[in-house]
Amino acid sequence: MPGAIPVPRPGAVADDGPKVMVLTGASRGIGHATVRLFAENGWRIITCSRQPFDRARCPWEEGPDDHVQVDLNDLRALNLAIVDIKARLAGRPLHALINNAGISPKAPDGSRLSSLTTPVATWTEVFNVNFLAPVLLARGLFDELKAGRGTVVNVTSIVGSRVHPFAGTAYATSKAALACLTREMAHDFAPHGIRVNAIAPGEIKTDILSPETEERLAPLIPMRRVGSPMEVASVLQFLCSDAASYVTGEEIHINGGQTL
Ligand SMILES: NC(=O)c1ccc[n+]([C@@H]2O[C@H](COP(=O)([O-])OP(=O)(O)OC[C@H]3O[C@@H](n4cnc5c(N)ncnc54)[C@H](OP(=O)(O)O)[C@@H]3O)[C@@H](O)[C@H]2O)c1
Repeated sequence: MPGAIPVPRPGAVADDGPKVMVLTGASRGIGHATVRLFAENGWRIITCSRQPFDRARCPWEEGPDDHVQVDLNDLRALNLAIVDIKARLAGRPLHALINNAGISPKAPDGSRLSSLTTPVATWTEVFNVNFLAPVLLARGLFDELKAGRGTVVNVTSIVGSRVHPFAGTAYATSKAALACLTREMAHDFAPHGIRVNAIAPGEIKTDILSPETEERLAPLIPMRRVGSPMEVASVLQFLCSDAASYVTGEEIHINGGQTL
């Protein structure tokens, strides 16, 4: 059939070396668990976050060499980071981009920032990190993703589709926009052999949670507990595998039944 996209063989890789991933926000939480899981499975992971690489926290091989220190709120720095990532790839294909880094600012007293109280500067920062950086990275690394018949996974949130007691309005709207962007990108990237999906975690035990989240919300979740970062990483592993070779434009919810 003219123009048809070839169906990959199960287990096929685009080249001989290890599969390669770019992952933002690897220093803690969901990103940290994801690097651990993929590194154990032989992937090379190029990580991006604001802090320098910390070998004590991040015990994976090649970590310091494959860490790009960048503030995703600084769009000029992001362009330089893309150049840096391309240099590290050195012409090799990219098999996955996971846009995981995200911020959820609170008021100085820890309270929720609403549509009435969110400062414009906060709104801009949240949209730069949570929404613009994912699409700029995917566009910047398009050729490498295409060469690797790669996949993009955007980390959205349960908060993109319902008001939350702690997460603020800027965060919620950025995640709703990211879910919509996932659908748009899936449509635009599919003819080039690149799948684009999202995962929407509920309450996962990481630093991003407000202190009282577990105590207040766990009893309301049908599974009666918050999730672990590794329970999110394992879904990312599925989406980046050939088992998901015909899945694109989806948002998979990981929340213990919180939205039922
Ligand atoms: N935990 C949850 O319950 C939950 C629920 C729904 C969705 N999510 C989403 O899941 C993703 C990961 O969340 P998490 O809970 O693992 O968060 P986390 O523990 O707070 O970690 C956030 C990561 O993002 C990086 N990061 C933050 N701002 C950045 C910036 N400006 N530039 C570059 N990197 C930056 C941080 O590294 P540095 O500090 O080194 O920059 C860190 O590695 C986020 O997108 C979040 O919105 C989480």
